[in-house]
Amino acid sequence: MPANIVVGTQWGDEGKGKIIDIISSRADVVVRSQGGNNAGHTVVNNGEVYKLHLIPSGILYPDTLCLIGAGVVLDPKDFISELDNLESRGISTANLKVDPRAHIVMPWHIALDGLSEAFRGGKDIGTTKRGIGPTYMDKYERCGIRMYDLVHPDVLAEKIQSTGRLKNKIITEVYGGEPFDLGAVTAEYTEYGKRLLPFVDDVSVLTFDADKAGKTIMFEGAQATLLDIDFGTYPYVTSSHPLSAGVCVGTGVGPKVITNIIGVAKAYTTRVGKGPFPTELDDEIGDQIRNVGGEFGTTTGRPRRTGWFDAVIVRHSVRVNGLDSLAINKLDTLAGIDTLKVCVAYKRPDGTVTENFPPTLEELEGCEPVYEEFPGFNEDISKCASFDELPENCKKYITRLEELVGCRVGMVGIGPDRAQILER
Ligand code: GDP
Ligand code: IMO
Ligand code: MG
Repeated sequence: MPANIVVGTQWGDEGKGKIIDIISSRADVVVRSQGGNNAGHTVVNNGEVYKLHLIPSGILYPDTLCLIGAGVVLDPKDFISELDNLESRGISTANLKVDPRAHIVMPWHIALDGLSEAFRGGKDIGTTKRGIGPTYMDKYERCGIRMYDLVHPDVLAEKIQSTGRLKNKIITEVYGGEPFDLGAVTAEYTEYGKRLLPFVDDVSVLTFDADKAGKTIMFEGAQATLLDIDFGTYPYVTSSHPLSAGVCVGTGVGPKVITNIIGVAKAYTTRVGKGPFPTELDDEIGDQIRNVGGEFGTTTGRPRRTGWFDAVIVRHSVRVNGLDSLAINKLDTLAGIDTLKVCVAYKRPDGTVTENFPPTLEELEGCEPVYEEFPGFNEDISKCASFDELPENCKKYITRLEELVGCRVGMVGIGPDRAQILER
């Protein structure tokens, strides 16, 4: 009966993987409902590191049913290599199912992601180049290839011909790129379909039935609120709805199933890719956070941009996701910084102040963060066993964040391992 959602509240990489893993240990079913292999979720268990992109983190628990919903876009080649990688490490993938409605990332989507980014020149989005945007474009254009098609060779061959011809025309005539050999693509993807046939099942039905049977469900968010196509920093966003509400449309369940919504944040802010970042630090403190926190992309290896905690952003996330509580990760990374700053509001160019995140980039432009300062801490907190054991300055910092964003902090992360979490 309990159904938790875990969502990112900043620009991704908040340590959702760790929180999801902890909650998965108490869940019967784990569901992914949007995004694709643009996500990179790290789980660390006793020094063993797992980096998951498409497969729900619940896969690390042998009895957990892991579901990939209709709203996910699935790259079969990458998915199979993730399956093989897990199997080679002794992790069973027998409890994994993919909805037949999920759209397939085809090779032309990946090519078009790169070509359109290059066409934008200096105004590129900085995508992960995994073909995510072009796959969602085809879904909404109603010419996409879905999981059902992939595992039915006749349907697949026909759809590759019809949509592939159009894609080749766009690639060659608009972008001057190289066309795909549609026969070779059909042969390759037919093989992927054969391999993936046993995984196909109706995730909406499986989730509904699990809820009716009183099972504990966890919806695993990928990306984050500020990357949402509507409520993020458009156009520097991803092409799906990483918000809590996206879970229902991306899985095919009604909102009344949900009982608890947890937002994940870092004790500071990071962003990978381009776009606005009001609290960004282009100085030694920013470098220190990047190096100490290991802030390099899980999917692309790119250095992450770093900055102070932005309460305006997280307050926005509390509202648009309807958060019940927050998990704040990576507090340990801030050790050794004399003065910690938190952005509490934005000052507009006309001198007025707002506590709400501006809806458009035009309104965000020229906004200056208004900071509150806190004394830092020097202690190694990574071995603290309870919230009470944290240095006073850490406790004050977290308590103030809670007040500023208007949401209870239920968990504090003090290291990458599963065990390095303080529950309150
Ligand atoms: P996700 O995309 O939200 O799942 O986050 P990523 O896995 O991409 O990035 C988060 C990184 O921070 C990973 O390397 C995690 O192992 C690490 N991490 C998570 N929580 C903590 C924490 O509390 N402290 C430290 N030092 N690292 C953490
Ligand atoms: P997780 O789940 C951080 C960013 C990309 C780029 C923008 C659009 O690990 O938190 P896309 O390839 O989706 O079209 O790229 O979104 N992005 C992420 N940034 N974490 C992620 O996922 C991301 N997924 C996409 O860097 O700025
Ligand atoms: Mg990540």
